[in-house]
Amino acid sequence: MPLIPPISWSRDRFTISTDPAHQDLDCIHGYLRRAYWSMDIPRELVARSMEHSLNFGLFQDTPGAAKQIGFARVVTDYATFAWLGDVFVLEDFRGRGLSKWLLQCVMAHPSLQGLRRFLLATRDAHGLYKQYGFTPLAAPDRMMEVFKPDMYRRQIAGQE
Ligand SMILES: CC(C)(COP(=O)(O)OP(=O)(O)OC[C@H]1O[C@@H](n2cnc3c(N)ncnc32)[C@H](O)[C@@H]1OP(=O)(O)O)[C@@H](O)C(=O)NCCC(=O)NCCS
Repeated sequence: MPLIPPISWSRDRFTISTDPAHQDLDCIHGYLRRAYWSMDIPRELVARSMEHSLNFGLFQDTPGAAKQIGFARVVTDYATFAWLGDVFVLEDFRGRGLSKWLLQCVMAHPSLQGLRRFLLATRDAHGLYKQYGFTPLAAPDRMMEVFKPDMYRRQIAGQE
C-alpha cells in the first residue's frame, strides 16, 4: 500500500479531510447501517473497509472540534482503476452543495489522476455523478459481477 499523504480542503465552515485519524467511525457506521446499499452492515466491516480505502470525511467546523457530517471512500490501486462508494451527507446538511464539493475533491485528488476506469453504483443519484464525468457503462455486456445483496444479514445470522 503506497503512503498517500492526508489532504484537506476548507470552505466556509466545512472541511474535507482524507486523514484516517479524523474519520468518525460512529458517524460513518451510524449512517451506513441504515443506507439502502449497506443495510445492517456490521461496524467491524465498515472499519475494515476504511482501513483499505482512501477516505474522504466531510466535517462541520465547530469551536474546538469538528463534527463529521458526510463521507465518501475510494478503493483504488492508485494507477489504473478506482471504485467510489459509501457517499453520503447527513440529512440536516443536504441541499447546500456539499456532496458536489465532496465529488470535486475526490476527482481532484492528486493520487487519483490518470486512471483508466473509475466506477460507481447508484440507485438514483446519477445526476450528481454525471456532473463529474461519470456516464452509464459504455459496454455493460463486457462487465460481470459477483453480487450478494443480503451478505451482511447472512453474516449477522452466522450463515457465512
Ligand atoms: C445524494 C446526496 C449525497 C446528495 O448530497 P447533497 O449535499 O444534499 O447534494 P448537493 O446539495 O451537493 O447537490 C447534489 C446535486 O446532485 C443532484 N442530484 C442528482 N440525483 C440526486 C439524488 N438522488 N439526491 C440528491 N441530489 C441529487 C442534485 O440535483 C444536485 O445538483 P444541482 O445542484 O446541479 O441541482 C445526499 O442526498 C445523500 O446523502 N443521500 C442519501 C445517500 C445516497 O443516496 N448517497 C448516494 C449513493 S450513490
